[in-house]
Amino acid sequence: MTCRRRTLAGAFAASAFLLGAAGAGAQTPIKVGFMLPYTGTYAALGSAIENGFRLYVAEQGGKLGGRGLEYFKVDDESDPSKAVDNINKLIKRDNVDVVVGTVHSGVVMAMAKVAKDTNTLLIIPNAGAEAVTGPMCAPNIFRSSFSNWQPGYAMGKVAGSRGAKKVATITWKYAAGDESVQGFKDGLKSSGGEVVKELTLPFPNVEFQALLTEIAATKPDAVYAFFAGGGAVKFVKDYAAAGLNKTIPLYGPGFLTDGTLEAQGAAARGMLTTLHYADGLAVPRDKVFRSDYARMFKSVPDVYAVQGYDAAQMLGVGLAAVQGDVKKRNELVAAIEKTPIDSPRGAFTLSKSHNPVQDIYLRKVVGTENRVEGVAVKALADPGTGCPM
Ligand code: BEZ
Repeated sequence: MTCRRRTLAGAFAASAFLLGAAGAGAQTPIKVGFMLPYTGTYAALGSAIENGFRLYVAEQGGKLGGRGLEYFKVDDESDPSKAVDNINKLIKRDNVDVVVGTVHSGVVMAMAKVAKDTNTLLIIPNAGAEAVTGPMCAPNIFRSSFSNWQPGYAMGKVAGSRGAKKVATITWKYAAGDESVQGFKDGLKSSGGEVVKELTLPFPNVEFQALLTEIAATKPDAVYAFFAGGGAVKFVKDYAAAGLNKTIPLYGPGFLTDGTLEAQGAAARGMLTTLHYADGLAVPRDKVFRSDYARMFKSVPDVYAVQGYDAAQMLGVGLAAVQGDVKKRNELVAAIEKTPIDSPRGAFTLSKSHNPVQDIYLRKVVGTENRVEGVAVKALADPGTGCPM
């Protein structure tokens, strides 16, 4: 066993011990509340986020800012109507110091309102809803992932530059899909194309057949689709089964093919997507992250795992600055705001409204990998307006 491996194995054991020994000792653990989808179409995304978070903590010997961690979990089911009750379980019942969540944009908007009203520290490890780092922004709300606009905008630029003039879009009808399509339209317009047809279906519906027939009748130069998790698997397979992938390129933000390629198989072959993470990055931190993740979870990490890992890094930066004293909120926030995050995706900084400013990669599906092809847009910030901070 190498020295590094021994350190990590010791760290895993330490964090397992801490989980069992919550509340013991003079220095009580930091209470972390995971509000994530553990069931439904986004279930795999929630688990990957939690894995990534736990991996970073394990790499730090089970402590952040000198304190152990105690975890609480709520399955939010990607259901906005249950979001207020669910976050209140973590804040009022479990008394957590920080909430880490969630995946679904509709759910996060309700969470952000409660977090703001109760001044609870919230780190968003996926949901890209623009409002939370726009009009709803607050000193206690951070995002370790992306805004829905960012990967969409990059894909629009790429699609236009590859000659797509008339494009059809298809998505679930909710904030993430709407904002992703808007980003795509902005990018496409800047490179000379336009969206000629916008198709939607309710979340998390996967009855795509009628819409695929409409795409075939429209004959666009390309299709842009926003789906993720189980829905993305089904859409990419249905698109190929209808034979559309032979004549009309299918583009998307990388959620369409991230964490899904084993299940999509040949249907995804050659697809181009844009995202803030990719396979094959020349980022030293990524190499360590991937081998530690594989060792701890016996699986290959995806973008969701990276975002969970970076949520833990951001919390770690804040806690280190206050030696674990979460009550020193202003200092904790100031440290997260100013410290670049050494992410497996490549280092990123935070915008004034606490959203990552980051490179968006162009990726191509090769086998079961989203291989990096290059940087589609460098240091892309969300254009978000209206943040009063
Ligand atoms: C969202 O709802 O914001 C979202 C969900 C899955 C992947 C990307 C974004």
